[in-house]
Amino acid sequence: MRADEPTLSLPASTTDPRWIEVALADLDAVHRDHLHCERKAAQSALSLVRSYPERTDLVAAVARLAHEETAHVVQVSQLLARRGVTPTWDLGDDYAAALRDQIRRREPERLLDRLLVFALIEARSAERLALLADAITDDATATLYRGLATAEVRHRDTFLELAAATAPATWRDRAAELATVEADLVARLPLRPRIH
Ligand SMILES: [Fe+2]
Ligand SMILES: [Fe+2]
Repeated sequence: MRADEPTLSLPASTTDPRWIEVALADLDAVHRDHLHCERKAAQSALSLVRSYPERTDLVAAVARLAHEETAHVVQVSQLLARRGVTPTWDLGDDYAAALRDQIRRREPERLLDRLLVFALIEARSAERLALLADAITDDATATLYRGLATAEVRHRDTFLELAAATAPATWRDRAAELATVEADLVARLPLRPRIH
């Protein structure tokens, strides 16, 4: 976040502590899902380049972010291989789909909402990756997850900075609104061995 912007606390809720028990009970499933989360993060970032090529600041920021996400894909893929886990197809993501439903159709609101939804997904991912880092007993995997959690916090802030630059007067209220929606959604979804 920019120094002149008071911090916004995202996500707006903490994950149910029972989630980590569910995740640890089937870590392989979490890693398989995580591979696709990283891939989709890269694709979502690049989708903004497709939609807003004239926004030079945005293109530079999200293209760099996508570059990091593809590096994360490599890291998680190597983790799966190291553990002898066979990857699966993407099982779908009702969490992200429900958040995307919140995106307004007309510009310029559409861009603001896309940036804020991406910030929220980064924020929740960062929270959960940090929970995994604290709970996983294998040192190499825990270190990997700690590094990924730090990167996703940075990505959250990149999207928030872009949102602030896009809609200086309204981004914060809209962010708070969407953060509440995200917290309600997380509380409603079943606990499962996935990132979301
Ligand atoms: Fe990532
Ligand atoms: Fe990210």
